[in-house]
Amino acid sequence: MGPVLLLISTLLSSYFHSGRTIDVPTTFTIRNITLAIEPNTDVIRDTNVTVRCKAIVSSSGEQPLSRSYTIYKDSYEVYTKTTSSSEDLLYPLPQARVSNTGKYKCKIDIEGRQMVSNSKKLTVTGLSRPMFHINKGVVTEGEEVTARCAAPQETGSIFFYFYEDSKEIVEERVSSNQAEVKLRFSSAGIRRIHCDYTVLITPDSIKSSESNIATVSVKELFITPVLEIFPEYNIYEGDRLDISCTIRNSPYSSQAVNLFLSQGTQLLSNGNSKVNYSMIALAKDSGEFECRLEMGNVVKVATKMVSVTELFSVPTLTMSPAEVFPGDDMRLTCRSENHASERLHRDEVTYTIYPLESHLSASRQAGVFSGKTLLYDFNYTCTAQAKGIVKRSRILTVRPKVSVSQPKISLLGKVIVGRPFEIRCQSDRGSLPINYTLWRKNNWLNTTTVKLPDEQAVFTITIQRSDEISQFMCEAQNNLHANGILSKSLNGTVTVPLSDPKLTVNPSLADIAEGDHIHLNCAIRGTWPVTFKWYRTGIAQPLYTTTSKQTSMDFQIPSLGSQDSGTYYCEAINDANNLVRSPSVTIEVHMAMWKKAVIVAACLLVVAVLVLLLVLRFKAKRGKREAAAELSVKPSSPKSDDSFAVNLIHDKEVYNAATVRVDKAVTSVWSERPANAASDEESSVASSEPDVEYTEVVHPQPADPARGAADHHDYGSVEYAELNAEQLEINHTQPEVNNQQDLLVPVD
Ligand SMILES: *[C@@H]1O[C@H](CO)[C@@H](O)[C@H](O)[C@H]1NC(C)=O
Ligand SMILES: *[C@@H]1O[C@H](CO)[C@@H](O)[C@H](O)[C@H]1NC(C)=O
Ligand SMILES: *[C@@H]1O[C@H](CO)[C@@H](O)[C@H](O)[C@H]1NC(C)=O
Ligand SMILES: *[C@@H]1O[C@H](CO)[C@@H](O)[C@H](O)[C@H]1NC(C)=O
Repeated sequence: MGPVLLLISTLLSSYFHSGRTIDVPTTFTIRNITLAIEPNTDVIRDTNVTVRCKAIVSSSGEQPLSRSYTIYKDSYEVYTKTTSSSEDLLYPLPQARVSNTGKYKCKIDIEGRQMVSNSKKLTVTGLSRPMFHINKGVVTEGEEVTARCAAPQETGSIFFYFYEDSKEIVEERVSSNQAEVKLRFSSAGIRRIHCDYTVLITPDSIKSSESNIATVSVKELFITPVLEIFPEYNIYEGDRLDISCTIRNSPYSSQAVNLFLSQGTQLLSNGNSKVNYSMIALAKDSGEFECRLEMGNVVKVATKMVSVTELFSVPTLTMSPAEVFPGDDMRLTCRSENHASERLHRDEVTYTIYPLESHLSASRQAGVFSGKTLLYDFNYTCTAQAKGIVKRSRILTVRPKVSVSQPKISLLGKVIVGRPFEIRCQSDRGSLPINYTLWRKNNWLNTTTVKLPDEQAVFTITIQRSDEISQFMCEAQNNLHANGILSKSLNGTVTVPLSDPKLTVNPSLADIAEGDHIHLNCAIRGTWPVTFKWYRTGIAQPLYTTTSKQTSMDFQIPSLGSQDSGTYYCEAINDANNLVRSPSVTIEVHMAMWKKAVIVAACLLVVAVLVLLLVLRFKAKRGKREAAAELSVKPSSPKSDDSFAVNLIHDKEVYNAATVRVDKAVTSVWSERPANAASDEESSVASSEPDVEYTEVVHPQPADPARGAADHHDYGSVEYAELNAEQLEINHTQPEVNNQQDLLVPVD
């Protein structure tokens, strides 16, 4: 009946409960939450402390809200409570302890909405004095003592420390307020023991005061292990050794005691009250034997040194010769260098080579084995045996050497005649060290030894002619008992530095004229490819640059002009990197032939014209004189209208008047001398000229201010004279003409 009733009541209550919450949803807001520590944040131990969390929540509706509170100490949850009460949440810390020290805060959660309070730090001071206790005051060596340290009424995480004569011996962390440890003392004496503790409060810890001191009296345990070895001295390899490890003065039951017999780290035997051990002594057994007694944690030890004399030494396996090539004869020697002659004769030692099926055969001499070297590495060992003792040598690995392959001779870098260069000699195969020798024809030059895999044999050489390069050969050798192997002859290109640069002009310098094409040929001696450059002095840039496989190259200047006159030179450079410069050549561009011809022709023409003019003038003068002579012979005519008109003009025009008259006279002469028609015509042209010149010259005279009116007449005459220099000269030089002028004066 009971369970049925309970079920019904549960169903009913859940029905009503859910029905109500659906009906009236509650609206709320968390307004504030604060945390307070009562009575104080700094208290001494045993104070009843309360952490109060106060939340202010406004809500509508009558339904009480379900509030979940969480209290945190140093970020760890320490307390949670869900309540429907609106009262403050109280977290009591009755009789506070130092471990309650920490930062507290509180959180409220209502239907998923949360608010966290401020945090407050509670500090509790004062630790109780630790209490120390041991269960025995008198013990023997190795006996256990139980020590207990308590921190009365303390809580939290506590470390306990135990001290023996003020020296810390044990540390124990517990979460209760007491710790118990087992202490043992391995030597006799009086010990003063105490403890203290610290309480951990993040991030610090607080140490308590020291506890009371307890005294333990440790008594010595009178029990001794005994180690006996027989024989004790003069032990040789192969001797039997009997060893026993026993206890003397044992007041204890043998079950409580353990004995261990050991040699170094090797445990030979163990037991309770007595341990026997028997062995054949070997040289390696020399050393300390130990008999160890353990009872509880009391340990007592007895030791003895055993020195085992070697009957014969470990054999060594050696090879001769030290270096072998495949197929060479070799000899392996196995020998035990030392033996105890008082116990063993040398002949008693027998030697064996391993592997047993090896191809080596034993010779009559003990320990000597010989045979051919294999093609590959092979491991050998050997043993020496006497009086039942066998000793094995270390492994000897025979590594047959690889003969050198034919070396290759090659050049490192460029070869330039007259400059040092490098020759490398290298064999692809061959065991090191390898000696490389450089030969020139049959002459030894140098030998170098390559000892390391990354070394190279490099020789530095200089040659003076390019064909000497093929004289070199090298030789490689890594087997002193065989001949070396020669390489082929050295083969490579040799660069000859440039020399003898020459610049020549074609056509030859003397024949160069305007409009010609010329070739500036730059020629050198040396190895191509060659880079040529042509320069004109005064111009930094080359006129032309070309690289050629020839040792002579042309640079053409088409259609020379006078501006191409100048000094030229060329430069050349090749792989040898020596720049050579030709001597310079001066080019003078002459005038073209046709121009010269034109000029000459023009000159001739001018000269011809001049000559012609002179001839004509001369002829004209002569004609005038003849005319004048005729005039003076004729009787003077009465004053004509013409001559009257002439007289009206100023007297300076006298000459003109005379001329006019001459003209008239000429007319008469003309009629009288028709035979020389051509010359007469010329003379008439010449005689009419003064008329024209006269009028032209006279008119500008008045415009000249420097000349006075008085001088006018005279100057007019002079001017006239100058202009008709030829005529005047003739007049002046010929008194007849002057007379003629005088003659004319009366006409005025
Ligand atoms: C602290 O509370 C305990 C009861 O929990 C009470 O016995 C004790 O007297 C109180 N101590 C002080 C100092 O009020
Ligand atoms: C140990 O050797 C001693 C003699 O040295 C012998 O008397 C004893 O019986 C042997 N004990 C054991 C356990 O072999
Ligand atoms: C020889 O012995 C060495 C070890 O000492 C081993 O590493 C090597 O492989 C052996 N060589 C041959 C050919 O067995
Ligand atoms: C020298 O080397 C060149 C190529 O570098 C090759 O053509 C020529 O045959 C070689 N001469 C000799 C003699 O080996």
